[in-house]
Amino acid sequence: MAAEKDLLRFLTCGSVDDGKSTLIGRLLWDAKLLCDDQIATLEAESRRIGTQGENLDFALLLDGLQAEREQGITIDVAYRFFETATRKFIVADTPGHEQYTRNMATGASTADAAVILVDARKGILTQTRRHSFIVSLLGIRHVVVAVNKMDLVGYDREVFDGIRAAYLDFAKDLGFASITCLPISALKGDNVCAGSAAMPWFDGAPLMTLLETLDARSDAAALPFRMPVQWVCRPNLDFRGFCGTVASGRIAVGDDVVVPASGQVSQVKRIVTFDGDLDRAEAGDAVNLVLADEIDVSRGDTLAETRDRPEHADQFSAKILWMHADPMLPNRKYLIKIGTTVAGAQINRLDCRINVNTFERTAATELALNEVGVCDVAVDQAVSFDPYAVNRGTGRFILIDRYTNATVGCGMIEHALRRATNVHWHPETVDKRARAVLKGQKPCVLWFTGLSGSGKSTIANLLEQRLHALGRHTTILDGDNVRHGLNRDLGFTDADRVENIRRVGEVSKLMVDAGLITLVAFISPFRSERQMARELLGEDEFFEVFVDTPLEVCRSRDPKGLYAKAFAGQIPNFTGVGSPYEAPETPDLRLDGNAQATANAEAVVNMLREKGIL
Ligand code: ADX
Repeated sequence: MAAEKDLLRFLTCGSVDDGKSTLIGRLLWDAKLLCDDQIATLEAESRRIGTQGENLDFALLLDGLQAEREQGITIDVAYRFFETATRKFIVADTPGHEQYTRNMATGASTADAAVILVDARKGILTQTRRHSFIVSLLGIRHVVVAVNKMDLVGYDREVFDGIRAAYLDFAKDLGFASITCLPISALKGDNVCAGSAAMPWFDGAPLMTLLETLDARSDAAALPFRMPVQWVCRPNLDFRGFCGTVASGRIAVGDDVVVPASGQVSQVKRIVTFDGDLDRAEAGDAVNLVLADEIDVSRGDTLAETRDRPEHADQFSAKILWMHADPMLPNRKYLIKIGTTVAGAQINRLDCRINVNTFERTAATELALNEVGVCDVAVDQAVSFDPYAVNRGTGRFILIDRYTNATVGCGMIEHALRRATNVHWHPETVDKRARAVLKGQKPCVLWFTGLSGSGKSTIANLLEQRLHALGRHTTILDGDNVRHGLNRDLGFTDADRVENIRRVGEVSKLMVDAGLITLVAFISPFRSERQMARELLGEDEFFEVFVDTPLEVCRSRDPKGLYAKAFAGQIPNFTGVGSPYEAPETPDLRLDGNAQATANAEAVVNMLREKGIL
């Protein structure tokens, strides 16, 4: 029987002050779900440090989370499991403050329902709005608003009715399928597991009954069939199966499936599992599908229903919740994980930021930790997906930092965007190689990075003279100069610097295509964008030259008087002062900024000889 019971995943939103710990503690106690040792500890702790006199202090049951946080241990989400006679539950308990928004999103991403706690004395607060917004953003469709501490407002019906009306009004646009409000006292146990003698005016079910009967099972099986292919299983020449977990819908032997990437259609011949073949499978099942035809399918492809196909595109609009201390910057390269695909991606445009407390939309150039924005996302390859509002399983993604592998954001897709259509690569008759051969040289990029005043431009200039004298065809892209033309619309915010380097990376690639030895002298303070430029070019075409001059030396040189201004607070985001410089860890060449510029230029010439460019 136990195996037959269904599972409800729910999230509790609120802070300790709202009585969240007390509520969960009370729920477990009244439902007799605590073990003897837990009860013994609770009794002892209540006597020792409890705040409830002779009574049990239920908050102590759950205060582990709080205590760990105070010790500086980061806990993302605490999951608690319990079961009653009719249902199994997983509660995701997340901290309530704004700085824990990302943790809340983590807990919400798999939940079917949310219990939002409101203090009857305080009514709907900013945090109630924020919690409701995140809950709706993450696609939770069923909300229980538990108006707690009714005992402290004399179990007054008017107080409850007022809060209920206010909540229903503000949440009307959040797209919830059901909102149930109930008056409770977690402390006294009113309407938690049993009804309340103190509130005869309330005729709804208590919280536990509500949770036991809420029809909130994610109806993934009722959606169109989707299965992202995790692995192509090919043990021998006679067998080829596609392994994965069915993300949504149902599939049976004989059904047609399509690969949206190619439009190829085939039929399911066998559904193989560890325990033998099946006739049918549905959302949540891990299967190995054998198709009737030899069609092209690889890891990352999606198998889908033919009559209701997913979107397949390399650009889409999405809501993104940023989860990292380093801000999200448009045009920076991240990794995206969507379904079983991992690919490069960037935010082409940040449409707006959405204030999580007021839902107000404002223009923005970046997203900070815990901020939400609407963005245009471009992926390096086309991927299959559905809008998140339609299919939570196939409409979400995460963004990953390419250096640290940390999850930096999570996204909910709204709809596909089309790139400029009818744009194709045009074949070139005189190509890059031909141009290089005519010039009799190997083109490449010499990318000088370093602080302002470190000597990049000076060294690049001397180097170009040397190369010129050696009969080489060269060009220079210099930060100050390019910022007078191509990039004159850009300033010095992090976002603008990312775009500055993206453009220069692209231009340097065109210059190499033209056959030139290209000297680039930009501060280029961020590792991520220097890496992006490197990846635009071939392995033996990009050389990073780090002009390593200490800040103090640059400051004493101060050729343009900018350091004086920056240290006087007149240039707020000057590199090395108010804005970071991420030094290269493994440059192709490191130059000592204290050495003579001519000697440094010569060192670059030597490197070019070693690399076979000269
Ligand atoms: S980058 O950071 O975006 O790569 P870039 O090399 O194009 O910078 O431009 C740097 C030059 O702009 C500096 O040499 C300096 O002359 C000037 N500059 C003006 N304001 C700033 C600033 N806030 N930070 C750095 N450089 C600045």
